Order: sequence, then C-alpha cells, then structure tokens
Amino acid sequence: MTTTGPVPALAARATACADRLRAADRVLLASHIDADGLTSAAVATTALSRADIPVETVFKKQLDATEIASIAAREYATVLFTDFGSGQLDVISEHVAAGDFEAVIADHHQPSDPADCHPDAVVDTDGYADFDTHLNPLLEGIDGASELSGAGAAYVLARALADGDTDNRDLASLAVVGAVGDMQAVGGELVGANAGLVEEGVDAGVVEEGTDLSLYGKQTRPLPKLLEYATEVPIPGISNDEAGATRFLEGLGLDLKADGEWRTWADLADDERQTVASALVRRAVERGVPADKIETLVGTTYTLPAEPSGTELRDASEFSTLLNATARYERADVGLAVCLGERDAPLERARRLLANHRRNLSEGLTLVKERGVTQAGAVQWFDAGDAVRETIVGIVAGMALGTDGVDSEKPIIAFASKDDAETKVSARATGPLVGRGVDLSAVMREAAQSVGGDGGGHDIAAGATVPAGEEDAFVEAADEIISDQLS
Ligand code: C5P
Ligand code: C5P
Ligand code: C5P
Ligand code: ZN
Repeated sequence: MTTTGPVPALAARATACADRLRAADRVLLASHIDADGLTSAAVATTALSRADIPVETVFKKQLDATEIASIAAREYATVLFTDFGSGQLDVISEHVAAGDFEAVIADHHQPSDPADCHPDAVVDTDGYADFDTHLNPLLEGIDGASELSGAGAAYVLARALADGDTDNRDLASLAVVGAVGDMQAVGGELVGANAGLVEEGVDAGVVEEGTDLSLYGKQTRPLPKLLEYATEVPIPGISNDEAGATRFLEGLGLDLKADGEWRTWADLADDERQTVASALVRRAVERGVPADKIETLVGTTYTLPAEPSGTELRDASEFSTLLNATARYERADVGLAVCLGERDAPLERARRLLANHRRNLSEGLTLVKERGVTQAGAVQWFDAGDAVRETIVGIVAGMALGTDGVDSEKPIIAFASKDDAETKVSARATGPLVGRGVDLSAVMREAAQSVGGDGGGHDIAAGATVPAGEEDAFVEAADEIISDQLS
C-alpha cells in the first residue's frame, strides 16, 4: 500500500478525514442526488463498511440550511458529506461550533467565504473556508470541475480508509463513472487527478481506457439509433434522420444485422468498427462538418470490463446516465443498489427510469427549441416553468448550449419552477468562456443573494434557488456580474 494515496496533494487531508471516521461509533452519510453523488456515496459506504464502521446513507436534492438542520436533529455525532458540503460550510460551521455534530467533507464544489462562517469552526485557505477534516481538490490547487469529482474525492478517502485486507482500488470504477457523469472529461479525456484514478482502476482490472467512437449509446443503442441520436457532432443526412442513418449503414456493404435486428456498436468486431467509423468521418468531411468537430467523433472511452457487454453498466457514460435517471427522480435507493452491485430488480427498475429520463431530456430540448432563448447582454436565458423537472433543467441547459438557436459564446441560464414560492436556476458555460474569466459559481451565489436566494457550484456549471418572481432581477444581476468577469 502506498503512503501518499492516488492524489499525493490530498494525502494529509484524506488521512485526517479517515482518522476522524475511524474514531466514530457510527456515521451518517449525506450525499447529492446525481450520478456523481450516488457513486460518491457508494464508494464511501463500501469503504466504511469494509472498515467496520456502521453507516446510514441519506440523499438530498440540495444541501440548504433546512436540510442541514434536519441532519443535526438526528442522533449522529459524526456526519460525512460527499459531493456537497464545502459550499455550505457557512451553515455547517455553525452546527459544528454548537456541538451538534462533527463534520467530515469529501467534496469538489467551491467552499464558502470564510467571512460567512462561524470563526471557531473554520480557517481561511486562500479565501476559501476550510477546517481539519475537509477533503476538497480546490484547496490544493486541483480543479474541482475537471480534475476531481465528488466520487474522486470519496475514492481518495476510501483509499485512506483501507486497511491490510483491502486497498479499495476496485472502487476506482465508480469514481470514473462519477467523473464522467459530472462531464469532467476535457476533450473526451479524464485529466489531472482523474487520470491517476483511471490508472489505479486499470491496474486493479476494473477500468479499461481506449480510443473509440465517442458517441453516446455504444453499448445499448441499435446502430441506426446510435447515429441518428448523435447530435453532439451533427452530420447532415445522418443526425436526426432515421432513414438517412439507416441508408448510410446499409450502404457500407457490411452485415450489420443479427436475426433481422440491428446490432449495437458493442456487438461489432474491430474491423467492422473501423469501416463504420472511417465512413462516418468521410461523410462528415463531404458534408462540410468543420474539422475540429470531426475530431471529436473519436475520443477516449472508459469501459468497466467486469460488467456484461451490451449493458449500460459497461460504459461509464451510459452508466452515469442510468444513475441520473434514478436519483434525480427520487429513487436514489435504486441507483445506490445498482452501484453496490445489486442487479435483477434494481437494474430493471433503473432501466425503466432511464427510458423516462431520456424522454424528459428530449422533451426538454424540444421545449427550448420551440420557446427559444432570450438574449440579455452577456447572458441568454429560458424559463421552463413547470414543463421541466427542476432536477434535470441543468442537464437540459447544458445540452441546449450546443444546439442551433443557442449562442455557444454566452453562458446560458435556465429557470424551472420548484413550487409557488421558489424557482430553481441552473447555469452552464463552456471551456473557452471559463478561460476568458467566467465563473458561474460566483455569478450564481452573488446574483441569487442579491434577490434573496442562494447558489454555488463550479466555474463552468452552477445553480441557485431564488424566490419566485425574482427571475428578471436575477438575470439583470447575472448579466452585470458576467460582464464584469469578461472585462
Ligand atoms: O453537483 P455536481 O458537481 O455533481 O454537478 C456538476 C454539473 O456540472 C453536472 O450537471 C455537469 O453536467 C456540469 N458540468 C458541465 N460541464 C463541465 C463540467 C460539469 O456542464 N465541463
Ligand atoms: O444525463 P447525463 O447528464 O448523464 O447525460 C450525459 C450526456 O449524455 C448528455 O449531455 C447527452 O449528451 C448524452 N445523452 C444522450 N442521450 C440521452 C441521455 C444523455 O445523448 N438520452
Ligand atoms: O442543479 P445544477 O445541475 O444546475 O447544478 C450545477 C452545479 O451547481 C452542481 O454542481 C450543483 O451541485 C451546484 N449547485 C450549488 N448550489 C445550488 C444549486 C446547484 O452548489 N443551490
Ligand atoms: Zn459532483
């Protein structure tokens, strides 16, 4: 066993967190309701159980003051937060100072401002609130949006919790699913600390890294559907064109059906894949698709070799979407069970939820197309009202940012109704915008606070909750802050 762990810069923090957890009689684990939050919880609960530390797991849509108070009301002396907690250190620090619980946090979101926290419970690390059992890549100069996810932070903790019987490296596959689920792959590839986790997973035999077609659905979609739905790189005559995609495949001179049914990408032999991929690239060139877009048709893919071929679980990207389809629909129990290795009933249930999730994403994108986005200076926005669930409006906003009618040079803000009193806000940017100074975490926090709400997240993707009716004022405040960031 190494003494430094998979991310040396975080080793001391991981050790401090592990020591605190080992000293606990039992732990309440609270995690976030998305793919990264679910995999974070699966990694942490497995490591705690292996270390004989009893754990109960709860999931929260958003960790706000009310949720933290409900956690404090439970009879647990030690609470582990994964995939959130850092951005709520202002509230958590008050409970810690009051002796309500001891907190351990493994997260990758931007920590609170120290000035907003209880001074007895936090210290200031480069302008971020910090304390002694806080495992967050941003505190060590590692990017929390592209180099380590919540599940990655939980994995670093799991490695520190390992004893002589296990090294917990088998959990790296879940960490990779979490990172991919949080869209951390840069140009298709996991980088920085994430790459170190991939390496450990490869060594442990639970992750395979390869170069392949980068389209979503290689394991489960029949070939025509794979191509038809691949709209990240629109190819005229194939994308969004069922008949065109079918004609293209039929024209390749390959036998791409088995028992009359179209095969999947996963079913193809290497030479068949080569033929299809080359023809696809050729067609894209002929139809004038820009070279930089064509390049992204092929990229790094992450496979879980222990999972059966042709299932969602085999491909990190499809696995993460399956998980989003559970927890974002109040069925985190289903997603967690699948992460923990249960198959049969939970997997069947997850697949039904996935069909529903896909329909909702597709309907959400159609709604954005029909209603259009409104330009407001440095930002653009749309209001989905009750038509898109607040838990997936951020995914829809991110997917919309690459489509026609949406300016890819501006951040996008999306509203969805939570209830009569509150509105959920999601914001998404792009790598180039972040490079030019955009930090949506600050935008969401400051613009929301200016209208009586609160928010946070990452530079490239962030969210907030605001009082209903404050949407226009919010857009105005966000426009002003983004304009400042870009100047
Ligand atoms: O709460 P959490 O950190 O898990 O969510 C991250 C969110 O940021 C995801 O919805 C993900 O799609 C989004 N994201 C993005 N582009 C990136 C990195 C993250 O849209 N480059
Ligand atoms: O749901 P999730 O955020 O995990 O989706 C990740 C990505 O997978 C989306 O941004 C989208 O590009 C792709 N996807 C898709 N078709 C679906 C679901 C997801 O192409 N039905
Ligand atoms: O909800 P959405 O997908 O838009 O969230 C984007 C990012 O912002 C996620 O990482 C989420 O955890 C974070 N967020 C936050 N505080 C909020 C809402 C979202 O930190 N109030
Ligand atoms: Zn996350």
